[in-house]
Amino acid sequence: MTDAPRILSEPESYALLKECGITVPHHAVVKSTYEAVTAAESVGYPCVAKILSPTITHKSDAGGVQTGIHTPEELTAAIETIRHNISERVPDAEITGFVIEEQAPTGLELYIGGKRDPSFGPVITFGTGGTLVELEHDITMRLAPVSPEEAKGMVHSIRHYPQIAGYRGTAPLDEAALTDAIQKASTLFTTRPEVAELDINPLVLFKEGLCAVDARVLMRPPVAPPAPSRPPLPKDLFLVSRIALVGASANPEKIGYAVLRNLLTFSGTVYPVNPKGGEILGKAVYPSLADIPEQPDAVIITVPNTIVPQVMRDAGIRGIPLAIIITSGFREAGNEGALLEQEIEEIAQEYGIRYTGPNCLGLQVPRLSLNATFDPKSPKPGHTAFISQSGAIITTLVDWSLSRDIGFSAVFSVGNQTNIDFVDYIRLAAADDDTRTVVLYIEEIRDGRRFFEEAAKVTLKKPVIAIKAGRSAVGQKAAASHTGSLAGSYEVYEAAFRQAGIISAENLSDAFSLAMLLGSEGYPQGNRAVVISSAGGFCVLASDYAERHGIRMTPLSDTLLAEMNAFMPDGWSRRNPVDMVGDAGVHRFALTFDALIRHQDEWDIAFVVSVPTATIDPVNLATEMARFSRHTDKMVVGCLLGGDSTVAGVRILRDADIPNFEELEDAFRAAGAAVRREEELKKRD
Ligand code: ACO
Repeated sequence: MTDAPRILSEPESYALLKECGITVPHHAVVKSTYEAVTAAESVGYPCVAKILSPTITHKSDAGGVQTGIHTPEELTAAIETIRHNISERVPDAEITGFVIEEQAPTGLELYIGGKRDPSFGPVITFGTGGTLVELEHDITMRLAPVSPEEAKGMVHSIRHYPQIAGYRGTAPLDEAALTDAIQKASTLFTTRPEVAELDINPLVLFKEGLCAVDARVLMRPPVAPPAPSRPPLPKDLFLVSRIALVGASANPEKIGYAVLRNLLTFSGTVYPVNPKGGEILGKAVYPSLADIPEQPDAVIITVPNTIVPQVMRDAGIRGIPLAIIITSGFREAGNEGALLEQEIEEIAQEYGIRYTGPNCLGLQVPRLSLNATFDPKSPKPGHTAFISQSGAIITTLVDWSLSRDIGFSAVFSVGNQTNIDFVDYIRLAAADDDTRTVVLYIEEIRDGRRFFEEAAKVTLKKPVIAIKAGRSAVGQKAAASHTGSLAGSYEVYEAAFRQAGIISAENLSDAFSLAMLLGSEGYPQGNRAVVISSAGGFCVLASDYAERHGIRMTPLSDTLLAEMNAFMPDGWSRRNPVDMVGDAGVHRFALTFDALIRHQDEWDIAFVVSVPTATIDPVNLATEMARFSRHTDKMVVGCLLGGDSTVAGVRILRDADIPNFEELEDAFRAAGAAVRREEELKKRD
């Protein structure tokens, strides 16, 4: 095989598909009209004639396909028409012959494709086929290998699935043959590394069986496998106790000053390093790393980019296993920067240093009072690890979290991910007892396949939520100049997230709502919800939101309703949502909670919705909700709606580990995502 990519001819593609078990039409390759007529006798009528030319990719567009041929005379005429069309439309085309093939009966036209993503490896696509494939865009993707369960999931997830299952009285089509073909296409990619791209369009599906009536296969010599995985981080980051800062500065305008000021709260020891020596912010400054009396666990670097290689070398000689390179001006800045980045990676390899960045904000571990960044705000301790490719998103989010009492187990800025990357950090977060949920802001995953495999293990233990930026072409360009990212296809990321069990979030607010919900309540046991409120309007909205987000408003049993009748006013709703009427005080809520505790088998999620009224003290209500939550293992979701009046109540909920949502729909959206994820998890077991 030569090094150049090569598109297989149609007969070659058919041979490959046949070899892997996908049905193709009976066909023959001929050079002349005479041979065509002879071949048609064995292929059978009706038949199809197709041009065979290495220079024509879109045969139909060039007028190179004639269908519905029933006789030798029609076949002779069809070949003439093809010759004529080609001479008119593609006069320079090289005609090597014709393919005469049986005409498949009418069926549903579908599409199976595959390609090798530079980051995630082989990806299989399935969807509606035919000439409208781009227009319909009714496709779904999975990373290969595609399991039988996943193949089935692909078939079920397209919009046109009802046509496969049997629509308006039509008989169902052969779904089993279809899932089998998807898996075979997947096997083709996992076993034949030289297969680079595959398009079967259309793949015609019948009541029994299927037939790939057109196929395009691109062969390319396989690229070298990615570099072997690095060893795990040398020391648990959550245990660092001695940190050096190279580039510490007495100038309040400089990053080296801001980082040192943040480090003053650190529970461990800090060693500022600057050739000038002296003292900064009350700390003795060491002229070099070699002068520090004991070996630091980590070094933070805030010197200009051209000095970073020397500092890394000094760190290597000093035996420091971990570096945090805040400095920018590397791969993201162009060729010279890329060479510098390569140099620091080589030094790191030589001395066995693992480093985060370059071009990053640093990291924050609130429980150690460690803020190794130049973010002026330090987050509160909590149970969510946030791993972000953007420093600006970290500073914004930390600022936002403070007023909402949201805390973090750790905040990591990955920067260019040259050495320590998302995979290392999610591993670290997965092993950390304080971390209950992981939120990722991703522009690019550099080794997608490794990420996918690791994330699939982590999501079995802890919820992982990701926001993937760079969906649009413009967004992808912005990511490239931000952290030198080649964002890749958004759809491939979506497929990888789904298969690895990562929950995709549209924005930061959704991601953290979900993290809050899952971090405090875990996954719900099912989707049966009950809404308890004294506000009729919100009961109506709650029903709408429940339907929109896949939450089922469960009917309440007669026994439960009868128990509630005893303390509810006349004319209460007597159904779910439980509308307790506007004059309800906290006592009525409490009695309802008690009834629901006695009937826990009837529901999985309770949404407690309250609005500011004269009869409800949010603090008392929150205290009752905490009691409710303590007496049930079901999910309790707070929706104390309003403004300042709710603050004290929300704090009580937070202390009791009950999530609270300021927007009612956010609560249902988050619970809906949790339910869907739990259902998918069950399928994986
Ligand atoms: N050892 C120790 N200190 C040294 C050394 C050395 N070998 N060489 C120089 N220094 C000192 C300098 O003397 C200076 O201290 P001083 O103020 O006492 O003179 C200090 O280190 C810093 O060096 P400067 O030359 O003053 O550099 P400056 O502070 O202007 O810039 C910086 C350095 C901040 C690293 C800059 O090059 C940079 O990269 N800025 C951008 C950082 C960034 O945005 N990162 C990514 C953010 S987030 C994201 O996610 C994309």
